[in-house]
Amino acid sequence: MIAGVLMWIRYGSVTDVTMDQIVSLCRRRGFVFPSSEIYGGLSSTYDYGHYGVLMKNEIRQAWLRSMVQERDDIVALDSAVILNPAVWEASGHVAGFTDPLVDCRTCKLRFRADKLEDSHCGKRPSKKPGEDAQCDLTEARQFNLMFQTQVGAMEGASSTAYLRPETAQGIFINFKNVLQIARRKPPFGIAQTGKSFRNEITPGNFLFRVREFEQMEMEFFVPPADAPKWHEYWIDQRLSWHLGLGLRREMLRVRPHEAEELSHYSSATSDIEYLYPIGWQELEGVANRGDYDLTQHAEASGTKLEFVGPDGERYVPYVVEPAVSIERIFVALLCDAYYEEVVGERERTVLRLSPRVAPVKAAVLPLISKDEGMATQARNLFEELRKRFSVEHDDSGQIGRRYRRQDEIGTPWAFTIDEQTLEDETVTVRDRDSLAQERIPISGVASWLLAALERPWSPPVAA
Ligand code: GLY
Repeated sequence: MIAGVLMWIRYGSVTDVTMDQIVSLCRRRGFVFPSSEIYGGLSSTYDYGHYGVLMKNEIRQAWLRSMVQERDDIVALDSAVILNPAVWEASGHVAGFTDPLVDCRTCKLRFRADKLEDSHCGKRPSKKPGEDAQCDLTEARQFNLMFQTQVGAMEGASSTAYLRPETAQGIFINFKNVLQIARRKPPFGIAQTGKSFRNEITPGNFLFRVREFEQMEMEFFVPPADAPKWHEYWIDQRLSWHLGLGLRREMLRVRPHEAEELSHYSSATSDIEYLYPIGWQELEGVANRGDYDLTQHAEASGTKLEFVGPDGERYVPYVVEPAVSIERIFVALLCDAYYEEVVGERERTVLRLSPRVAPVKAAVLPLISKDEGMATQARNLFEELRKRFSVEHDDSGQIGRRYRRQDEIGTPWAFTIDEQTLEDETVTVRDRDSLAQERIPISGVASWLLAALERPWSPPVAA
């Protein structure tokens, strides 16, 4: 049964969803808070609230499942955040992990020299830096993006270390361990998730560019001649994976990098881009890093990092790397799922998230909270479901408001306990997207939910 007329304000296009709407929903519903707020904040840093944590966990688990659990050829790793600084010398990050920076002597703001077109003058935001007569820009200089820290009690050059700017190097320096102990041979991969840190000159656009973020990277070691083939393979795999999370196909595209865009280690990179409210931007990068990293570390450390086959063949494997941050997926999913609708006479905001990534899979709601029978049945059902699923029990306020609350956090289904439950032991299941309702036996709710979560899901299309 459809409750009233369902009019979708947004028809399959994300361009009219603004980052402000996403920021406001995240704040209102406790997905994400500005960090250090009681001290005035710290620009572009964020803390995740309850639903944000649950959703990030779903994204991470989906990645680990597809990268490690469901494959024979990839193993997991969790390397340290602070590595021997020699790692970053050898990897080229100390010399080359830089962005060009310009200062404005008038407004004192800093800009990325290669992004002036996208920046706003500090005095006249309608102009770009350098356009106004008062602008006084310095020459561009290279600014290293790594955060420095000191290891141990002594301060000084000898104790300088870095917070990792990518998790990948922790994988390369463990190549030999995995080759020997996990008894792998190319093609094989090493996957890890974890925080990385970059002192971005111009962070911004909510979680899109932040200084502290969680990467999910997999380094796939292959015979050199096979690297182009594996590069294509991983671009396809990763695109399918994003579609499997529920992102709409028309919001994704693959864009190969121009030669001048390539990172210092890459011989070919393709970005899987998403059409964010700020335009097409990188969601995930898939790079062919060649033998750059293993060769650099072998030379710098004096440890051979190569594969020796049973017949004595030896080579330094090439590396194909799919690298993505949870933050960019998180924002893409929210933008993709955000709808404002009129249902009958009333407006609702709804997140049409795939059930796989929704922070809460189902709500359990007694229709009349003060009714002892309904309250008990609802609590019992919730206690049963919570052992296996992320579910929420809500008995405060009118039922309509409780449904709206669940819609806003993207809960796909609600099980409502009502008068009829007390008579025949059935509950109502309400579907977030269609608003259809059906009745099922209370004893079958857990298996109904399990089956519903395993069903293929695709983003609903506007009528
Ligand atoms: N490892 C690739 C990146 O951090 O972007």
